[in-house]
This record gives sequence, C-alpha cells and structure tokens, in this order.
Amino acid sequence: MALAFSAESSRKIAEILPRYPNKQAALLQVLHVAQGQFGHVGADVQELVAETLELPPAHVWGVVTFYTMYHRESVGKNVLMVCTNISCMLRGAEDILGHVEKKLGVKPGETTADGMFTLVEEECLAACADAPMMICGDKYFMRLDTGKVDTALDELRKHPRSEH
Ligand code: FES
Repeated sequence: MALAFSAESSRKIAEILPRYPNKQAALLQVLHVAQGQFGHVGADVQELVAETLELPPAHVWGVVTFYTMYHRESVGKNVLMVCTNISCMLRGAEDILGHVEKKLGVKPGETTADGMFTLVEEECLAACADAPMMICGDKYFMRLDTGKVDTALDELRKHPRSEH
C-alpha cells in the first residue's frame, strides 16, 4: 500500500498551507508534520511530501539533507544532540560527548539497542553562553559536566522528549 498521510496529518497540512504564499514555502512545516507521523523522513516519506506539495523530489531531498532536525531513518525516543562547535569545544564538549558515548554505548549517528536514544554530534545550537550544552527535543541541558549529563540521561529515560 502506498504511503499516505493520516487524517490528523492531512488536517494539520490543510491548516499550514494557507499561512504561506505558496506550497514550496510550507515545506519545512509539512516535513515536520510528516516526521511527526512517520518518525522519519526517509525517501518514501520525501516522495509523499513532494507529491503533496507538487515539488520536485530533489528539492525536498535538498532541504531534508540540509537540516539536521530531519531524520532520514528511524530514531530513538530521544534524539540527543551534543554540540561540539567552537564555544562548546573550548569548554569541554569533547569530554561531554565522550561521556555520553560511554554511558549510552553508541557513537554519533547510532541508536541504542533499546531504542531509547539516538546520538547526534551537532553544530552550534545557539546557546554558546551556556556551553557546553546539548538538547533533546525542546529541552536544553546547559553548562554541562559529567554529573549533569548523567542526571539528564536519567530524566530522558523516564520522560522521553521525542516529537513522534
Ligand atoms: S558552540 Fe555550542 S551552542 Fe554555540
């Protein structure tokens, strides 16, 4: 059976489209809805979005591959993004990332065997003043040390921050 948007996603898309001057301008929002429904925006989902918005699939691919917030494969219940850009790096981000890797037993780009965490090494997340930091969904964990990472991981295990 061909992939299709659910009634709920279709309703959301119908609400989104009138807010934009054309369908192409609504792409980011529609991708967000698609990821919410399917858990990722892999090739088949991109095709559905392209069809829905009457856009070339290559355009959708270009946008999906540009933004790290879109996942092309299934991800864990928590997508943990650890910033290792300059401000965070200067304040120990490599150690933070190493600690997260050790605690979760995965490298960036991998998902834990229990499906609880996907780890992503991220560029600047615009919270340099509170470096080193990481985010999960809309939750920011800032001025990290290894103890704060442990607390954050415990919290996320109990209350996953996934958008889907
Ligand atoms: S460099 Fe990490 S938030 Fe900006």
